[in-house]
Amino acid sequence: MNNISTNNIYKSFKHNEEDMLVLEDINISINHGDKVAITGESGAGKSTLLQILAGLDSPSNGIIKFGNQEANLLSSIEKSNLRLHSFGFVYQFHHLLEDLTVFENVLLPQELMPSYKYSDASKKVNDLLGQLGLKSRANFLPWKLSGGEKQRVAIARAIINNPQFLFLDEPTGNLDIKNANLVQDLIIQIADEYKVALILSTHDNSFAQRMDKIYKISNRNIIEV
Ligand SMILES: Nc1ncnc2c1ncn2[C@@H]1O[C@H](COP(=O)(O)OP(=O)(O)OP(=O)(O)O)[C@@H](O)[C@H]1O
Ligand SMILES: [Mg+2]
Repeated sequence: MNNISTNNIYKSFKHNEEDMLVLEDINISINHGDKVAITGESGAGKSTLLQILAGLDSPSNGIIKFGNQEANLLSSIEKSNLRLHSFGFVYQFHHLLEDLTVFENVLLPQELMPSYKYSDASKKVNDLLGQLGLKSRANFLPWKLSGGEKQRVAIARAIINNPQFLFLDEPTGNLDIKNANLVQDLIIQIADEYKVALILSTHDNSFAQRMDKIYKISNRNIIEV
C-alpha cells in the first residue's frame, strides 16, 4: 500500500441535534516516502483529518482510498489489519497503557501480528528501545517517564510493525524546546531510516518547515502553503 488519497471529503459532527461542519471538500494525496505537515489554528480540524487519513474515523461524505481500495468498502477486520500492518499513530497525549511497562507497550502491536514469535519480537523491541535511548527505561511503567520519554515510547510503539505511514498528532506539542528538538530530530531520522511516510500535525513552524510539503487547514478547507 503506497498511497492515501481523499476525494471531496467532508466531515461534520452532531452537536445539539445540529451538524457542525469541520472539514469541507478536502482533496489530498500522500505517497509512501512523503513528509507532510498539517498546520492550522486550534480547532481547525487537524486531528480530525489525521484520524480520517489513518482510518480511525470515517468521513461524513466523500471518498478516502488506501492504495486502490475505497475505505468504505473495507470490512472492519480489513481496516484493522491495514492499520496493524501499514499505519502507526502517535497521539498528542501518547496514550500509553499505564499498566504495562515500556517494553510491553512497544511489544503489544507485535503480539497482534499473525507471524508473532516472542523471541524475535522481544529482540526487535529491545533494539528499537536502544536506538531511541530508552534501554534503561524498558521495565518502567509509563508514569515514571518524562514527557519526552513517553513520546519516544509512543513513537517506538507506532513503528515497531514497520508501517508505511506514520501519523503523529502534535508529537512535540507538550514538550520543552530541548526535548521537542530531540524528538523532532528522532522522528525525521526514523522516517528516513525506516522509509516511512510522515503525516504530522504541528503548531511549530520550524518543525513544519522540515517536511517536504506543508498544508494548512483554514475555514474548513485545506491548502498547500
Ligand atoms: N468527536 C467529536 N464530536 C464533536 N465535535 C468534535 C469531535 N471531534 C472534534 N470536534 C470538533 O471539531 C473541531 C476540530 O477539532 P480538531 O480536534 O480536529 O482540531 P485541531 O485542529 O486538532 O485542534 P488542536 O490544535 O487544538 O488540537 C473542533 O471544533 C472540535 O470541537
Ligand atoms: Mg488536534
